Amino acid sequence: MRDASPLAVYLNDYQQPAFVVESLELDFDLAAAATEVTTRMAVRRNPEAVEPDAPLRLYGDGVELVSFTVDGAKPAEGLLEQDAEGLLLHGLPEAARLEIVSRCHPDQNTALEGLYASSGNLCTQCEPEGFRRITFFPDRPDVLTTYRVRLEADRAQYPVLLANGNRVEAGELDGGRHYAVWEDPFLKPSYLFALVAGDLACQRDTFTTMSGREVQLELYVEAHNADRCDHALASLKRAMRFDEEAFGREYDLDVYMIVAVDDFNMGAMENKGLNLFNAKYVLASPDTATDDDFVAIESVIAHEYFHNWSGNRVTCRDWFQLSLKEGLTVFRDQEFTTDCTLFGVKRIDDVAMLRAFQFPEDAGPLAHPVRPDHYAEINNFYTLTVYEKGAELIRMLRTLIGRETFRRGLDVYFERFDGQAVTTDDFVAVMAEVSGRNLTPFKRWYTQAGTPRVTAATSFDGPGGQARITLTQETPPTPGQEHKELVVIPMRVAFLDAKGQRITAHQKGGEVQDEWVLELSEGEQTFRFEELSDSPTAISWLRGFSAPVILNANQGVDELAHLLAYDDDAFARWEAAQTLFRRAIRSRIEHDAADTALEAAIEHALAALLRDEAIEPVLLATILQLPPTRELAELFERVDPVRLRNERDDLEKRLYMPLTEAMQQIQPKLDDVDNGAFTAEAMGRRQLRNRLLALRVAARDQAAVPEALAQYQKARSQTMRMGALNAVNELDHEARQVLLADFEKRYRDDPLVLDKYFGLQAGSQVAGGFERLDALLEHPGFRWTNPNRVRAVLGPFMARNERHFHQDDGEGYRRMGGFVEKLDAMNPQTAARLAQPLTRWRKVDTARGEQMRAELERLAALEVSRDLRDVIERALAE
Ligand code: BES
Ligand code: ZN
Repeated sequence: MRDASPLAVYLNDYQQPAFVVESLELDFDLAAAATEVTTRMAVRRNPEAVEPDAPLRLYGDGVELVSFTVDGAKPAEGLLEQDAEGLLLHGLPEAARLEIVSRCHPDQNTALEGLYASSGNLCTQCEPEGFRRITFFPDRPDVLTTYRVRLEADRAQYPVLLANGNRVEAGELDGGRHYAVWEDPFLKPSYLFALVAGDLACQRDTFTTMSGREVQLELYVEAHNADRCDHALASLKRAMRFDEEAFGREYDLDVYMIVAVDDFNMGAMENKGLNLFNAKYVLASPDTATDDDFVAIESVIAHEYFHNWSGNRVTCRDWFQLSLKEGLTVFRDQEFTTDCTLFGVKRIDDVAMLRAFQFPEDAGPLAHPVRPDHYAEINNFYTLTVYEKGAELIRMLRTLIGRETFRRGLDVYFERFDGQAVTTDDFVAVMAEVSGRNLTPFKRWYTQAGTPRVTAATSFDGPGGQARITLTQETPPTPGQEHKELVVIPMRVAFLDAKGQRITAHQKGGEVQDEWVLELSEGEQTFRFEELSDSPTAISWLRGFSAPVILNANQGVDELAHLLAYDDDAFARWEAAQTLFRRAIRSRIEHDAADTALEAAIEHALAALLRDEAIEPVLLATILQLPPTRELAELFERVDPVRLRNERDDLEKRLYMPLTEAMQQIQPKLDDVDNGAFTAEAMGRRQLRNRLLALRVAARDQAAVPEALAQYQKARSQTMRMGALNAVNELDHEARQVLLADFEKRYRDDPLVLDKYFGLQAGSQVAGGFERLDALLEHPGFRWTNPNRVRAVLGPFMARNERHFHQDDGEGYRRMGGFVEKLDAMNPQTAARLAQPLTRWRKVDTARGEQMRAELERLAALEVSRDLRDVIERALAE
């Protein structure tokens, strides 16, 4: 068990490592019960180190030390010190060779960090600090070296032996054993190390890079999954091509391997040349995976592939720089997915996710900057802020300096820092250099937490006249940051005329344009426009969501309806509807009554949208969806989450009831959607079909329930099956039980699909939520040691089942607290993540908030992991 007291690490304490590792050899004698590791490394004093005679720090976490030699001899008495963090070796000369023999126990490892067993195979997860659970090593990202790895194991049990780089040797040994030797020629930090030993089937393909080299692509899965690999391999090839075409980045090794693992804490891991994936993000067939799953797989495969440059070739100096690789790589995978999808809907999905998850994080007790300056447990900083807000910062940089300059900057960045471990400051400095701009004010985005609030106001002087836009900004305080500084906010805007066309104008001394990026860097700033070609009917603000801010532009209902009908920016169009939905909810909660005039206007605008023959199906499907409760909660200081959910659902019902006929009329055009096609267009049409079905059920359209039943029965794809199930999942109706029972029977032996069943049951607000929860935990397919199973049950229960999670006697909080406690003893990283909904106690009404806080206090009094303690302590801090 780890040290239970969170001692913080500070960015300001950063010091270069005392030693560099010149080369590393690892010999593994692999077995599930006990694996022996021989670590040989050549170390040399780092000339840049601050202290000339500092000891060598070798981190170790739960590894047994078997033997230790320095240049072939045991270190003299007192020179080798063992402490809570590992080993300290004093009195080393300028250069030395160390040989360490150590032991670890993969089959006891339920934390799934380090070397562990999953479905009878052995695998590793080292980021961020898992390598120290395998052997003693300077396990920090700025210690880069080359690895030579020898794996030895029983041949029958582990016929496949993989590690990073190229296989240079392999052979048979006595006693049914065999071995393989792998060499990775590229410098890498220990967090990118990986090995796999197992009985796995290999699906192969090849990719020819832009310079004509042939790369072997190998996808390793359990034999029974061999028929679910095509999509992942095709996605990998598309990602490799995209990185060449869009970013000029070519793959560097001769082989690229991906291994699917059943037990995995995260989505996937970018180990050099040997990615490890949660099986959920690899395996897909039309019968088992939905369109959303197909898209998620493609984007995770791309993300990990893109890390080969943004993360592996150029890596992070320390973990405070995590967004250097994650923010940039998310930005890159977003660009890729945008390229694979239609009509700006990817951008809308990303913004919806940012609002539903990152904005609440940034406004709550766990708020932190994109580049934090201290942490107690780094595992807890793989957050939406570091990832998604981090990607927004990259996007803003591109908006500010222009696409071409940005692309040049990326080239310089990869070239200059290849083989190095660097910082977000280094990244921004390159962008400043290529653009000739002072980006120092921009860097506050990296160091300051919280979502800025922007207001916008306009005034016009008649047609052909002038316009003025006044913008203000303010960032509310966050824990540890009372006073906020001003940030640089790129605001993309356009003026639309009565027909929805863009109006032209110019800024003083500027060219005539029909779209502008205004740079707000002061607390308040006014921008003037001259010679407008027409008088504006509406203003399209924050186009493409040009900055991660909360905008209040005080637009009237007519103006919003105009944008919803005509805006050529998909985000802005969607946003107009979202603003209307939010306003209606706010009115219901704050004035205790529906604003009937507003709701009638919204219904009218939605009716027009449903009649619009030109709108793309996927965009229509996206616009029709009301914001989730999670996001709506941010509109209020505190709110009763059960009431909020009920008002949201009631608003949905009220808005769509009069529109059922209009929705029915669209349906025949979508009758052929279950056609096995996987184009963006085909997926968009299925999405619309399923959305309309769900909205009709929500609006109590009597015909919709039998249609859902029929859709389920006839379905040839998981997308249509899940579409039907989702539509009826909130109905206390026999149809729901019938379909779910059938689904369970059909997929009870297929864990990844069974997870969908768990999610539907746990996430449904239908009465009896606790009994269903008990039944799921008793289900033969449930295992506490498998993160996917646990997340499939606890995740939706806390995210979507307001009625039970927030039941007013506190039963939901106590149950979840108990589960988190139980899980923490096995898997602290996953437990700390699942504890997060409990940290939002200040956002719910005070009666519930106190119950939630009491559960946190109970957990705080126990002996819990450092991961969980860190989350709880920040949640309870004043
Ligand atoms: N490097 C991470 C995986 C990781 C995260 C390892 C946290 C250790 C701790 C990987 O590149 C990643 O970001 N994976 C994401 C999916 C991605 C598409 C955003 C994940 O696993 O959720
Ligand atoms: Zn990543």
